[in-house]
Amino acid sequence: MAPTPFIIVAIDGGAASGKSSSARTLSERFHLLHVDTGSYYRALTAEMLRRGVPANDPAAVQAALTDIKLGTRVEGRSARMEIGGRVAGDEIRSREVNDHVSHFAAIPALRNALLSYQRGQAEVARQHSFRGLVMEGRDIGSVIFPDANFRFFLHADQNERARRRASEGQQDSIAERDRLDSSRKTSPLACPPGATSIDTTHQTLVEVVELMATAIAATPGFA
Ligand code: DC
Repeated sequence: MAPTPFIIVAIDGGAASGKSSSARTLSERFHLLHVDTGSYYRALTAEMLRRGVPANDPAAVQAALTDIKLGTRVEGRSARMEIGGRVAGDEIRSREVNDHVSHFAAIPALRNALLSYQRGQAEVARQHSFRGLVMEGRDIGSVIFPDANFRFFLHADQNERARRRASEGQQDSIAERDRLDSSRKTSPLACPPGATSIDTTHQTLVEVVELMATAIAATPGFA
């Protein structure tokens, strides 16, 4: 019998476009390791803020990065980044991190430090016997895994996204973050050619996930 294929699912999109909920559901449905790369940028941002490294000083950021040791802890179906052996807590969703994360994420040295780390998550998934991984972010289908088996790009009307964040009790400058994330020079947020673009404004999570799951389940030997 042919071995079960190992699949990589990339989900990209702006803030509150529905990426996390979809990725979490798909990870459960198909036993995939869930990797939320936004949480990685957030954890590094929190660490830089803790060390007093300013986002407008790329050389200082680069110097700090050489001193930061990254690891991965798998909790349930989720991969968590360890910085110096510690997994960051709720502080990564704070107002302060929301306000700074896009500035740090625009620094090429910081993105570069995360590039091989993120690609290495496929090996983590294999080591933990997952059937693949579902990775969400801004540049997964374009830069990190351009050859992923599935590449989805989610988008939604800005008012609807602001409503979603508010209903989660979060204060988030979605429009400003999207502007910065889409206009930066290195790996900007954009739907890569060949990816499946899905408008989630008027669709429920169940409908969006169903669309993705149907495509994934059609992979020979995988359902
Ligand atoms: O998914 P999120 O909103 O938690 O992401 C936080 C920030 O991290 C986002 O504003 C931009 C950055 N990010 C990125 O530049 N590339 C990724 N692959 C994921 C997130």
